[in-house]
Amino acid sequence: MTTVEIRLPGRICPVHIGENLIRQTGSFVASLGRARKVLVVTDDNVAPLYLDTVLSSLTEAGLEAFSAVLPHGESTKTLSSLEGLYHTLAGHGITRSDIVLALGGGVMGDLAGLAAATWLRGVRLVQVPTSLLAQVDSSVGGKVAVDLPEGKNLVGAFYQPDLVLCDPSVLSTLTPAFWADGLGEVVKYGCIMDPDLFDLLEKLAPGGRDALMGSMHDIVSACVRDKAKVVSEDERDTGARMILNFGHTVGHAIETCQGYAGLSHGCAVAAGMVAISTLSEKQGLTEQGTTERLVRLLETLHLPVTLPPIPLHDLTAAMGMDKKTFNSTLHLVVLDRIGSCRIHKASTDFFAGL
Ligand code: GLY
Repeated sequence: MTTVEIRLPGRICPVHIGENLIRQTGSFVASLGRARKVLVVTDDNVAPLYLDTVLSSLTEAGLEAFSAVLPHGESTKTLSSLEGLYHTLAGHGITRSDIVLALGGGVMGDLAGLAAATWLRGVRLVQVPTSLLAQVDSSVGGKVAVDLPEGKNLVGAFYQPDLVLCDPSVLSTLTPAFWADGLGEVVKYGCIMDPDLFDLLEKLAPGGRDALMGSMHDIVSACVRDKAKVVSEDERDTGARMILNFGHTVGHAIETCQGYAGLSHGCAVAAGMVAISTLSEKQGLTEQGTTERLVRLLETLHLPVTLPPIPLHDLTAAMGMDKKTFNSTLHLVVLDRIGSCRIHKASTDFFAGL
């Protein structure tokens, strides 16, 4: 087992990474102390696969375990689902010393996390992420939220989990779409700060998913270590944490223009990373050959490297560059080379060659 500590002022949040860790959920949660009850929040995709394992492990550890199973997908990340969870928490008499456990991908982590952050003004949160994206990104760093019709993640909080358990073996049940979704974020860490991870991915990618799964413990650990470093420097996302958004300015714009029904987040980020890197390389901001290397890796991983057919005007408007904000300065994450990046202040001209 590998343990990565997120060091924040006044507290440390441990992330444990290890095969079959999910079976030991109960003993890890019990070791946090004081809790009598645990509400496991999960979705109807994950429940048939892992809910029994987690509930039995909690019960064997002497905890009273309850579950809330919600429909899967982003459309569940709403205020009304959150209210439903409050009623469930009330119904089970979850007190301040008890625990909310998020079992699933980013949607469950965000929703259960916000419930934990607000129930009785905050109860402890344990994250057991079951998607690659949640293991390497959303379960780590304390961002929790729900969506509004006006936009994604508009109501939320920074609320650090007391414990994160990443079990890479559960990733074997991911559908190809969810697998690709997480890989986009994995490549991102290699690009922005981890040249060794990028090298490892280049070595493993030709062997396909089996080869990557064989080294998933190391891959997840590297990503969590990278994210821990960034979050420790800038928990509240006011500066350094911005580098985690490499490829996201264009990626989010793609998702918005496609009404969240086209490319998945990780795939949109992959296309966004290539778009930004192509432009920054053309403008002499990025070492020559960087984009070619990035494209080769993404193609080998079967991730998109070109933008979907969206008119440039729509894409730039979605990036906040409509008439109202046309002259505003953008803070873009650009690569110096593979494994190193910086924030580049740019005007809309940056995207002229898109
Ligand atoms: N996913 C970006 C962040 O946690 O800041």
